[in-house]
Formats: sequence, structure tokens, C-alpha cells
Amino acid sequence: HDIETASDADPQLTSALLGITRGSVPLHSSFHNEPDTDPSLPANRAWGRRILARADASTLGTDTIEAATVPDEAVLGTIIDAALTAGAAWGQKTGAERAVVLHRAGLALAANRDRLIEVMASECGKTIAEGDAEVSEAVDFAHYYAERSKDLDRVQGAIFVPSKLIVVTPPWNFPTAIPAGGVLAALASGAGVIIKPATVARRTGAVVVEALWEAGIPRELLALVNLPHRDLGAKLIAHPAVNRVILTGGYETAELFRSFRHDLPLLAETSGKNAIIVTPSADFDLAAADVVKSAFGHAGQKCSAASLVILVGSVAKSQRFLGQLVDAATSIRIGPASDPVTQMGPIMSPADGKLLHALTTLGAEEQWLVEPKQLDETGKLWSPGIRTGVAPGSYFHLTEFFGPVLGVMHARNLEEAIRFQNAVDFGLTTGLHSLDADELALWVDSIEAGNLYVNRGITGAIVQRQPFGGWKRSAVGAGTKAGGPNYLFGLGSWVNEPGRN
Ligand code: SER
Repeated sequence: HDIETASDADPQLTSALLGITRGSVPLHSSFHNEPDTDPSLPANRAWGRRILARADASTLGTDTIEAATVPDEAVLGTIIDAALTAGAAWGQKTGAERAVVLHRAGLALAANRDRLIEVMASECGKTIAEGDAEVSEAVDFAHYYAERSKDLDRVQGAIFVPSKLIVVTPPWNFPTAIPAGGVLAALASGAGVIIKPATVARRTGAVVVEALWEAGIPRELLALVNLPHRDLGAKLIAHPAVNRVILTGGYETAELFRSFRHDLPLLAETSGKNAIIVTPSADFDLAAADVVKSAFGHAGQKCSAASLVILVGSVAKSQRFLGQLVDAATSIRIGPASDPVTQMGPIMSPADGKLLHALTTLGAEEQWLVEPKQLDETGKLWSPGIRTGVAPGSYFHLTEFFGPVLGVMHARNLEEAIRFQNAVDFGLTTGLHSLDADELALWVDSIEAGNLYVNRGITGAIVQRQPFGGWKRSAVGAGTKAGGPNYLFGLGSWVNEPGRN
């Protein structure tokens, strides 16, 4: 069976599995993860087909995002002022009062599952399974942060002072879960919120916000903006009334935001270059399947995706492992998201730059194990690529590509494999496939990444069970992990309670 461990995993579970303790995530019995839709039931498959039949012609979110278009700085100023006023009143409520609204938001997101899946398939090429999992994660954020907002009332000896205004700038690759997570955390912490969805996923962002408005969250308190000019974005980020910016995006975007305002209070989850290490003790069947799932889910467009698999010692020569890897990668069904049988949809925009290079060009010592193919004229539909012979320190080893391409490296031993992972600038997710307790202990002690996964895939962190966040260049600014117990604590400030210290 799968053993899951994140670096913040439940200490008892972790120590039972690994004989070690690292961090602590209290599990709250009042919170339960939202289940995904079960596709084995015929009624659910019929429901899914009806949703996908609408996807190609879908216009969901269009009116809302158009109405949210900000023409100039004066209008932006009005929106900021209104959010500040609404945020100040909202911040006077207790965490328990806010929790009621947050739980309603979770119900509204769940009630909009079909619309969200439709707009994600339409706008972002998300398959039904991927879209469905994202909605579950968004619902989880609502109920989990609702409960965590009550914690803010309970801290002994200190008073939590909410921010008045938090700006949320999510990415396009998780266009429902990440916007929802940022907005709901900010609201749970008692702040007013302005959300600016990623431009290419803005209709999805609008449908998320529609659901939250439907739950009774006022439009001033949660303002949706569509910014047609980049300088308006810079004005929003740099505005002195903004107390926090929650960004998920590339490392360069975090640097850009900092260039708008050098003292920006930023909580950013940024890039990744993540490896799964496979040792000779591993269950190869499981390892091959998990590597392929982690590398090619959502066509590799996840900061958490596996971009490298590092084979230790004899695994490099194992026809069993490599054969299964090739079989699993080449049997993925590729097609439009609106086709229910599609397992890997198109990439978001035609491959160019670094990604096109990675899909078409090999380094000196590299060979294709599975050569990627462009499947249509759009430049967006590609079959997965796997290259072997990735050399330590090479371009492929160290660069994030954000697409369906995986590199295989060979290491003499586990220590060397760990050095290869640690040599990258980023430290977001990482995985080990091993059935040896000593290997596990060595790896956990020395691997440099925020989310550690053992004998499972390295994407798809579950709220509460695997709080999500990285270190090194995968995180910019001070913050704790999303979907974890302390995330809200970093969204406001603290003052000592008089007389209690
Ligand atoms: N939270 C996502 C995952 O775990 C990435 O943003 O895959």
C-alpha cells in the first residue's frame, strides 16, 4: 500500500513508519476531505459526459470577467477603497463568525462542481478527472480554513490583528483550487480580498468567485479584477494599502512583483524542478506508475510535477523498470479535454521557448527513450517525452520546463542521487521509491524540499494531510504551508495581550 509522508506529516504516523520525527500537523476531527466523483458509477460517467459535451462551446464566466475589467487607475482606486472598508468591518468579526461564511462557501463550491469542471475543460484543457480533483481541493480549503479561523480566536497571550487588504494572484495551471485557496485563506484571516485571476484562466477564476458571491460573500469584500494593462497590475501590487500579496507562479514573477515594491509583504509559492529517486529496493511496478503520473498529469504543467527520475545503481539497467516506464508513458490517451476518455490534454499555449527546446532538442549525452511528438497543428497537443542520459549539471538537470517531458538520471548510490536533487535551485516536491528503512531515513534527513513523498506520486497534495509549500527558490517571502495548520497565522499581525505575559 501507499505510504504517504509530507515533511510536516503527523509525527506519530511518521515515527511509526520511519522511526523519526519531523514537524507536526495536528489532524482535526471536525474536518473531512471532500471526496472526488466516483467514475466507476455509470450515473457519474453520464453526468461527466453531459458536462464535457458543453465544454467546447462554453462561455461560463465571460460576463462576470468582462464586468470586472478595470479601465484605469481611478477605478482601481475605488475598488481598493471599498475592499479596505469592507475588510476592516469583516476583520472585526470573530473567527467563529467568519467560519460560518467560509463553510457556506465550501457548500457553494461543491454545488458548482459541474460548472467549474466545464469551464476548466473549456479554458484550460483540464480533463474531467483533473478538474474534479481541483474542485474537491477548493471545497477542502473552504472547510479547513473555516476551522482554522476559529484558532485565531483561541491563541493565549496574543491577539491576531487581521490584514485589511490581501491581493491574491493565482496561476493558470490550477485555476480553481489555487485561487480558491488563496481567497479563502485571506477571508478566513479576516481580510478584504482583491483577486486577479491569471489572464489565460480568468473565466475559471470568475466562476470560482461567482460561487463565493453566491455563498453570501459581499462583492466589495471579495473584489474580482481583470486588468487589461500590466501597469495596472503593478499599481495594484505596489499600492501601500495592500498588506499581503499571495502569489503562486514562476520565480521570475515573484522577482517582478518585488521590483514593483521592494518591501512587498509577499507569500509566494514559486517554481519547482522535482525528482523522484528509485532505489533497487523499490516496488518497480508502483514506481513506474507513480513517476508517469507525476510527470505527465496535466501534461506536466504543475510546479509539483516530476521532471526527473533518478535511478540508483542497478535500477538503471532494469529492463523491468524502464520497460514499464515506457509502456505507461506511451499508453496515455492524449486528446482534447472535452473527450471523456482523454487522460492527458493539451498544454496551455503552443510550446515555445524553453519547453519547445526540451521537447525537440537533446543534450550531448542524451537519447530519447520515448520521443515526444507534436500531434496537431495547434502546437498544444504533444505526446510525452522521456530522455535518458541527463548529465549532472546539464541544462535539463537544472531547468524547469513545465510540460510533458521527463529526464532520466543515473546515480551510483542514494547519496549521489540526493546530491543531484539538491543541486537544483528549487525545493518544492520530491519523492523516494524505496522499501528500505535505512534508505528512507537517510533521504528524509538530507533531501532539500518542502513536500516529501514516499512510495507515491509527488503531485496532488491533500489539504490538511499534506500542507503544501517549498523552500529555496520554490518559495519567496515569509509564509507557512498552504492547507496546513499555521497558514492563516502569517496573513495578519500579532500583538501581545495586555496583562497576560
Ligand atoms: N498543490 C499542487 C500539488 O500538490 C500543486 O500546486 O500538486
